[in-house]
Amino acid sequence: MNNIQDYLNSGTVDIAPLLSLVLKKSNVELITQSDYQLSPIEKQTLDAMIKQRTDGIPFSYISGTKGFYHLDFKVTPDTLIPRPETELLIDIALDLLPKNQPCQLLDMGTGSGIIAVTLADKNPHWTVTATDYSAGALEVAKSNATTQIEFLQGSWLAPVAGQTFDLIISNPPYIEEEDSYLDDLTHEPITALTAGKDGLDDIRIIINEAPNHLTKGGYLLLEHGHDQQARIVKLLSKKFTNIQTFQDYNAKDRAVLAQVN
Ligand SMILES: C[S@@+](CC[C@H](N)C(=O)[O-])C[C@H]1O[C@@H](n2cnc3c(N)ncnc32)[C@H](O)[C@@H]1O
Repeated sequence: MNNIQDYLNSGTVDIAPLLSLVLKKSNVELITQSDYQLSPIEKQTLDAMIKQRTDGIPFSYISGTKGFYHLDFKVTPDTLIPRPETELLIDIALDLLPKNQPCQLLDMGTGSGIIAVTLADKNPHWTVTATDYSAGALEVAKSNATTQIEFLQGSWLAPVAGQTFDLIISNPPYIEEEDSYLDDLTHEPITALTAGKDGLDDIRIIINEAPNHLTKGGYLLLEHGHDQQARIVKLLSKKFTNIQTFQDYNAKDRAVLAQVN
């Protein structure tokens, strides 16, 4: 294979984005310049990336970035690749509190930082803290920050002992440890994905501990699996009020918002 058209005809998965990445050409340029001959270096780089992609490495780990909401985020194998479903949490949080009102926000299990960084970028008046127990993920999140954010390492609420927040958000691990869906996710960190037999181990800890870290009337906002909403509402109902449920843009149950009593 020597020119762009040869590669486009190859049927390789993600070939157009891989070509765009290596040649720094837009999709339109790939079509209009389809007889462009790749240099030996370009060919070598592209062939190495095709091999990685064919071996199952997700495109975002090859490119090192993933778009989320209005920003591009660095991602590495230490971080989950941001999912579009998680944009729902941003929409809910932005609707919840007036833009110019100060807010103490905590994003737990921040991963690449998408929730904390996006909301801090949109709301310069908010004071944002982000935690993760993975040092590798926190390094990536720090590099993605566009504003001042406090990053702390530790398990769930342990790093913020004695602190309270107006809004706590988390997209925690919530996949059942035996779920066959995991067979397709072998390159992402397993500890970012699974949470015990029923997928609720981390959510139970968060729901139990969050009330001690919320200001009066403060909110907890959680992403969850499509079949977990009823069980999470039941867990929340012991200590929370005004429980609201949300579906994602594929009409699947995906998030809960609750206010502390
Ligand atoms: C599903 S990923 C979400 C990452 C990111 N917030 C996002 O939405 O893309 C869950 C994150 O929780 C972190 N995590 C897992 N167990 C944790 C724990 N016990 N304490 C804090 N963070 C944890 C993982 O390292 C991972 O970054």
